[in-house]
Amino acid sequence: MEAFVRITEVWKTRGRNVVLKGVDMEAGKGQVVCLLGPSGAGKSTLLRCINALESCDKGIIHVDGVAIGAEEKGGAWYRMGERALSAQRAEIGMVFQNFNLFPHMTVLRNITDAPMRVRGETRAVAEAHARELLARVGLSEKEGAYPKQLSGGQQQRIAIARALAMRPKLMLFDEPTSALDPHLVGEVLEVIRGLAASGMTMIIVTHEVQFAREIADRVAVMVDGVIAEYGPPGEVLARPNDPRVRSFLSRALREPEMQP
Ligand SMILES: Nc1ncnc2c1ncn2[C@@H]1O[C@H](COP(=O)(O)OP(=O)(O)OP(=O)(O)O)[C@@H](O)[C@H]1O
Ligand SMILES: [Mg+2]
Repeated sequence: MEAFVRITEVWKTRGRNVVLKGVDMEAGKGQVVCLLGPSGAGKSTLLRCINALESCDKGIIHVDGVAIGAEEKGGAWYRMGERALSAQRAEIGMVFQNFNLFPHMTVLRNITDAPMRVRGETRAVAEAHARELLARVGLSEKEGAYPKQLSGGQQQRIAIARALAMRPKLMLFDEPTSALDPHLVGEVLEVIRGLAASGMTMIIVTHEVQFAREIADRVAVMVDGVIAEYGPPGEVLARPNDPRVRSFLSRALREPEMQP
């Protein structure tokens, strides 16, 4: 399958740490890639590079055939200007561990704000779309609520609806269920399952190994700044070649709730 997301030899230093050390990875259109790996491996940093929140020091990321965060002029590559960067970010949805909803806005405003401000949608169009998305995440009755009136699982479902409101062509999730009480994890995973079934291309950083096994087309395991294993879940999770991946997976499978 032709790669929709192609990550080629990406290096990234943060402070004095070399965090990404030549990352190669890809996702086909409509595929779900689950990214696993121990704390500090560089998973969040990679997502931030894919979303152009950070630039790569070396290497390149393409999404839908377009280079992220960099443009070529006269044979040399340059960091894009802020306008071009925010246009790229608008097409890539990101969902974080801690929901990051705007506390002073209702659920409906949280969802319509960016489409109206960034995409120039009219209120009527943005609200109609927001209500469709609220139905999709099962929270139609909450459009007038404020984030603090919602459970963590509900807030995360709103955060997903808010990301989808921008009509992204790629969705990135950074441990979307890590901050949730165990009994609220299922409802969020259910929404992500629905998105996968709808054909959305997704890269999901998760510690939920069982979920990855079930939903992923490809699993990537990152260790110390490189992708140590990449392939179908049945192969990577059952028969990892890399000893560091074997030891990570045996710990993750033994004590899933203990992962950070
Ligand atoms: N601003 C920073 N300055 C220096 N080092 C940083 C900075 N941010 C992150 N790092 C380092 O980069 C490495 C990778 O961090 P990253 O957050 O990408 O890991 P992760 O795989 O997402 O881990 P976790 O599972 O804990 O979320 C870590 O060693 C971290 O200490
Ligand atoms: Mg992280």
